[in-house]
Amino acid sequence: MNAVFPGSFDPITSGHMDVLTRAAKIFDHVTVTVMHNARKTGRHLFSLEERLEILREATAHFDNVSVDSFGGLLVDYMRQQQKGIIIRGLRAVSDYEYELQIAHLNRQIGEVETVFIMAATRWSFVSSSMVREIASYGGDISEMVPRASANALRRIHADVYAEREAEKLETQLRVEGGTAG
Ligand code: PNS
Repeated sequence: MNAVFPGSFDPITSGHMDVLTRAAKIFDHVTVTVMHNARKTGRHLFSLEERLEILREATAHFDNVSVDSFGGLLVDYMRQQQKGIIIRGLRAVSDYEYELQIAHLNRQIGEVETVFIMAATRWSFVSSSMVREIASYGGDISEMVPRASANALRRIHADVYAEREAEKLETQLRVEGGTAG
């Protein structure tokens, strides 16, 4: 059975990676599909091409995962591509109501089933939006996202990260100077 893991992936997080790893063990093939809306460009930090590039790098080690994109209704994509099952990750109860609504809608308008996979609890607080926020201040996001996402975020916020590094170095030198004196 094949499956589709749809999302915005702006960028892919360790929580997404956890769900994908579990899905890839259950399904024969999983397509990670960036759903995008041409009328809503500018809403994302990363362009569609950048998100696809990050996804390709982050999923290169799977032999049954591929990456795709679609700008339309998920049910149309599922029908056109004969893709089987939709996979969505659940982090906490707070995700449930929204996901339940979408799953029911997709079944009603497209007769497509959704399978939910629970992300490990250590990722229950991680979301793409929080990671974007932390990175915008130069915070440490290395645990929360795969390396491809972390590198892309550090590139975008290179000036902020450089500033923090300089501050850290300065503090370290001051402390060492103090100890020596
Ligand atoms: O990562 P996200 O933002 O939670 O993903 C939500 C997504 C992209 C899967 C959902 O918004 C979606 O399927 N969008 C495509 C348009 C669509 O089919 N809408 C009807 C269901 S809300």
